[in-house]
Amino acid sequence: MRELIFATHNEHKSIEIQAILEDSYRILNLDQVGLSEDIPEDQDTLDGNALQKARYVEEKLGVDCFADDTGLEVDALGGEPGVYSARYAELSNERNNGQDASEANIIKLLRQMEGKSDRKARFRTVIALVIGGKQFTFEGVVEGSILEKKRGEEGFGYDPVFLPDGYNETFAEMPLSLKNTISHRARAVNQLADFLRTYLTT
Ligand code: IMP
Repeated sequence: MRELIFATHNEHKSIEIQAILEDSYRILNLDQVGLSEDIPEDQDTLDGNALQKARYVEEKLGVDCFADDTGLEVDALGGEPGVYSARYAELSNERNNGQDASEANIIKLLRQMEGKSDRKARFRTVIALVIGGKQFTFEGVVEGSILEKKRGEEGFGYDPVFLPDGYNETFAEMPLSLKNTISHRARAVNQLADFLRTYLTT
C-alpha cells in the first residue's frame, strides 16, 4: 500500500482522514514518522500555511505529503478571525493565564459580534498536497451563522457558536458522525480522496 505523510501532530485528524481514504493509502502523521518538532505556519492565508507545512515536511523527509489549515470567516468582521482562528484571543492579549484557548476565542468572538445583525460565517479548510514533486490544493467550505450564545458540548473550537445552514443543531450539538459528513474538513478531505483515487490509476 502507498504511504502518504500528513503534516500534523493531531492523531485524531489523521485517523479521520484514514477512514475516508480507506485502504487506498496508508496515512502516517508526523509522530508516526518520528518528526516531533513544530512545523512553521506563519503565512497570512490558509493556502499559504497549508503549502508551507506540506513543503517543509516534503523537503525535510523527501516524501509525498499533505497538510491542512482551517479558519472561521465571519462576514461582519471582514473575514476575521480567518487564518488567525486558533490564536484569535491570544493575538489581542485576551486569553487569561491558564484559560482554554477555545473558550477565550469564543468569548472574544461573541463580544465582537454584539449588536451585529449580519451573523453569516463559514469554516474553510485548505489541504495542500505535494506529490511527485508537484503541488495541489483542495478546499472545503461549510456556510452557517454565529449564534449569540454557546449551544452544545460536543466538538471543539468554535463549534458551540456555529450553526450550519440547513440544520437546527450547532456543530457542538449534532453527533460527530453528522458533523464529519458536512464539515469543511470532510469536504476538503473528500476532494483530496477523489484526487488520490484518480492519481493512483494514472
Ligand atoms: P486547524 O488549522 O485545523 O488547526 O484549525 C485552526 C483553528 O480553527 C482551530 O484552533 C479552531 O479554533 C478552529 N477550527 C478548525 N476546525 C474547527 C471545527 O471543526 N470546529 C470548530 N473550530 C474549528
